[in-house]
Amino acid sequence: MSVDGKTAPASRQGRLFIPLMNEKLLKRLHKLRAEVDGVLVGVSTILADNPKLTVRAVQGKNPLRIVLDSMAAIPLESEVLKVDDAPTIIAVCRNAPKERTDMLVEKGAEIMRFDCERYIPLGELLERLHCRGVRKLLVEGGSEVRWSFVRSRLVDELFVWITPSVWGGRDAPSLVGGEGCLESSCSLKLQIGRVEVEDSTVILEYKVARDSGAGVTLAPC
Ligand SMILES: NC(=O)c1ccc[n+]([C@@H]2O[C@H](COP(=O)([O-])OP(=O)(O)OC[C@H]3O[C@@H](n4cnc5c(N)ncnc54)[C@H](OP(=O)(O)O)[C@@H]3O)[C@@H](O)[C@H]2O)c1
Repeated sequence: MSVDGKTAPASRQGRLFIPLMNEKLLKRLHKLRAEVDGVLVGVSTILADNPKLTVRAVQGKNPLRIVLDSMAAIPLESEVLKVDDAPTIIAVCRNAPKERTDMLVEKGAEIMRFDCERYIPLGELLERLHCRGVRKLLVEGGSEVRWSFVRSRLVDELFVWITPSVWGGRDAPSLVGGEGCLESSCSLKLQIGRVEVEDSTVILEYKVARDSGAGVTLAPC
């Protein structure tokens, strides 16, 4: 994100941030992906950035890719639907049109359907992913999805990279969006871990304080 907390410009073309990701930072991001079992984004991140979510800048295994997409609106030409690279799960709600989900299955994606209207229930999603062997999940974005994880207290660690730039823009997405907290008791309490500077980018790694997390009790598979 920028020094003023923006994760994309107001125009929402997040790829504009990529020139700030030099080779070392890209390797670091891809190393993180290689260390987790799954990488998750919201459908708006797919629409804005069309990311591959694979490991390319270092040696390593591609994680399972998960997209939260209540109505199965993801464009069929999206990079994450190239399933020869890595498997992809599209999490949808009950009203997602069957003809759309059929097309996604034809592309090789797996559909996980949930009994919801718009927001995928994250506790149930994590249970199902756990049964699929996912023990470590990297939530890459965007800000609405990050808020859902924060609100549900389903975050163990937070990785923040501050690039040496200021973007401004009241409509530019910030690190965590959503309706946000109204009282300080609701905010996620963090403990600082690693602090580093790499090529003028400040790298902060936090653990979520124990009394700030509710977590989820996993049912047997
Ligand atoms: N710099 C970075 O590190 C970074 C990383 C990622 C993204 N970005 C930027 O962030 C922006 C996109 O973020 P965004 O906040 O607009 O959208 P987002 O978080 O990527 O996606 C939000 C959408 O996901 C769907 N969704 C389904 N279940 C959900 C749930 N439980 N919680 C939240 N969302 C759920 C909803 O759409 P439906 O109702 O249609 O299903 C929701 O509107 C882009 O501009 C992108 O460039 C930046």
